[in-house]
Amino acid sequence: MITDNSFSDYLEQYILDHTEPESELLKELYRETHVRIMHPRMCSGHLQGKILQMLCHMVNLEYILEIGTFTGYSAICMAQTLPDKGELHTIEINDEIAELALSYFKKANLTHKIHFHIGDALKIIPEINRTFDLVFIDGEKKQYLDYYNLVFDKVRKGGFIIADNVLWSGKVVKKDLPGSDHFTRGILAFNDFVQQDGRVQNVLFPIHDGLMVIKKLT
Ligand SMILES: C[S@@+](CC[C@H](N)C(=O)[O-])C[C@H]1O[C@@H](n2cnc3c(N)ncnc32)[C@H](O)[C@@H]1O
Repeated sequence: MITDNSFSDYLEQYILDHTEPESELLKELYRETHVRIMHPRMCSGHLQGKILQMLCHMVNLEYILEIGTFTGYSAICMAQTLPDKGELHTIEINDEIAELALSYFKKANLTHKIHFHIGDALKIIPEINRTFDLVFIDGEKKQYLDYYNLVFDKVRKGGFIIADNVLWSGKVVKKDLPGSDHFTRGILAFNDFVQQDGRVQNVLFPIHDGLMVIKKLT
C-alpha cells in the first residue's frame, strides 16, 4: 500500500528523475555538507539548485548577490549561469563553513566569478558598490525584511529578488497558534510587506520550502 508519505517520496523521485541530473561536484558537496556540517538541511540540493539555475538562465544576468552562502551549493548553481565578465557576490556570517564553500568554488573553477564576503550581510551590503540583476535572499529568517529594504535600491529596474523558505515548513499559516516563533514572524512580516509593495510584482512558488519571486518595477 502506498501511504501519503511514500507517495510524496515517489513523486519527489519522479520529479528528480525528470530533471537534469545533478553534477558529480554538487553531489559531492551535498554529501560533504551532510557529513561535516550542522543543519545540512539548509543546503539547497538538486531540485532547488536546478530551479534557481533555470530561473537565472531565463533572464540575462550578469550580477547576482546572494545573502547566506552556507556551503556554497546555490552560489555554484547560480554562478555557473553567468557570462565570463559576470559576478556573483555571496555573503556568509559563519566563518567556520567558509573554508568548505571556498574549496568547492575552487573545484568548480568559479573563483574568478564568485566574490565571497565573510561577515554580517547587514554591514556588508551597504559597502558593495554595484547594481544587481538578481538578489537571492537566503540568510537569517528574522532579517528578511531588513535585507529586502537594504538591497532594494541596489537592484536594477526590471531586476529580481528571490527569497527562499517563505513557507517556513507551513508555519506561515499557523501564525495564530501558540509556538509561533520569531523566525516565523520574520517570514510573515516579509511576505506581507512584499504583497503590499506597489513597486514590485511577486509570485510565491510553492516549491521546496517556498520561493518568493519578485520583479522590481520602478
Ligand atoms: C539557509 S542557509 C543558506 C543556504 C545556501 N544559500 C544554499 O542554498 O545552499 C543560511 C545561511 O545564512 C547565514 N547567515 C545568517 N545570518 C546572516 C547574516 N546576517 N549575514 C550573512 N549570512 C548570514 C547562515 O550562517 C547560513 O549559513
